[in-house]
Amino acid sequence: MDSAGLRELLTFYADAGVDEPLWDAPADRFDETRLEAEQRAASRPQAPQAPQTQGQTAPSQQAHRKQPSRPAPVAPTAAVPDDAQAARAREIAASAASLEELRAQLEAFDGCNLKTTAKNTVFADGNPQAPIMFVGEAPGRDEDIQGLPFVGRSGKLLDRILAAIGLDRSSVYISNVIAWRPPGNRDPSPLETEICRPFIERHIELVAPKILVTLGNPSTKLLLRTQTGIMRMRGTWAVHETPSGLQIPTMPTLHPAYLLRNPAHKMLAWRDFLAIKQKLEASLKG
Ligand code: URA
Repeated sequence: MDSAGLRELLTFYADAGVDEPLWDAPADRFDETRLEAEQRAASRPQAPQAPQTQGQTAPSQQAHRKQPSRPAPVAPTAAVPDDAQAARAREIAASAASLEELRAQLEAFDGCNLKTTAKNTVFADGNPQAPIMFVGEAPGRDEDIQGLPFVGRSGKLLDRILAAIGLDRSSVYISNVIAWRPPGNRDPSPLETEICRPFIERHIELVAPKILVTLGNPSTKLLLRTQTGIMRMRGTWAVHETPSGLQIPTMPTLHPAYLLRNPAHKMLAWRDFLAIKQKLEASLKG
């Protein structure tokens, strides 16, 4: 394939969300015999198992491109999270006495397999003294590269919405439920979310904003402990209760990425942001 063709193919992959190489050498699954596929499947460790330290690769995983006499390459196995990791996360997060400590703990934490494919731990952006905190779902590609939340396309839209109510990154604080980009932007699993939950809950508790805004379904469901979808939840004030019992007025609203796909619903988000503006002004007066 010539370089133009290769560029086109890589662009196609990137558009489809395939933007992370997992091995140094390509693996042709079509060229794999059934026996090799069975060997590959059989050589995968059974879950649950202890998480692997980032960067560690088991000898069986160092196989490269298949040779006729060798078994096919084996995918590097990400650490498999288990309930013990969720318990460990709760213990660690609860012990953080400041945002700096929490950030350091999150950066050192090795119990979530999302970290094995992420480039950066995305902690937060903005002003931790701000009266208002926004929580999204998980970093995307741009956020993973820059190590900051909401810096890609949906972040640009969020910035424009904030500007429309007189706010910017110096007057708000922004974070996500999940600190590591899920590979290919897949949905985080319930267990991965459970492992990350104590960190974002402690994060909110340490910031103690006057107002919390949950962006989209996952952060709304997690932080308001509800199964009700965002379309029903949005626009109505609710309460997020921190682990120590602090009650924070919370506005669930539509995620900017959703608004990019459904621009007609920007009108709904605009209503929510006007309500946020009013509440913020009242809370700053009171
Ligand atoms: N979507 C999110 O939920 N968070 C980000 O940081 C970026 C996109």
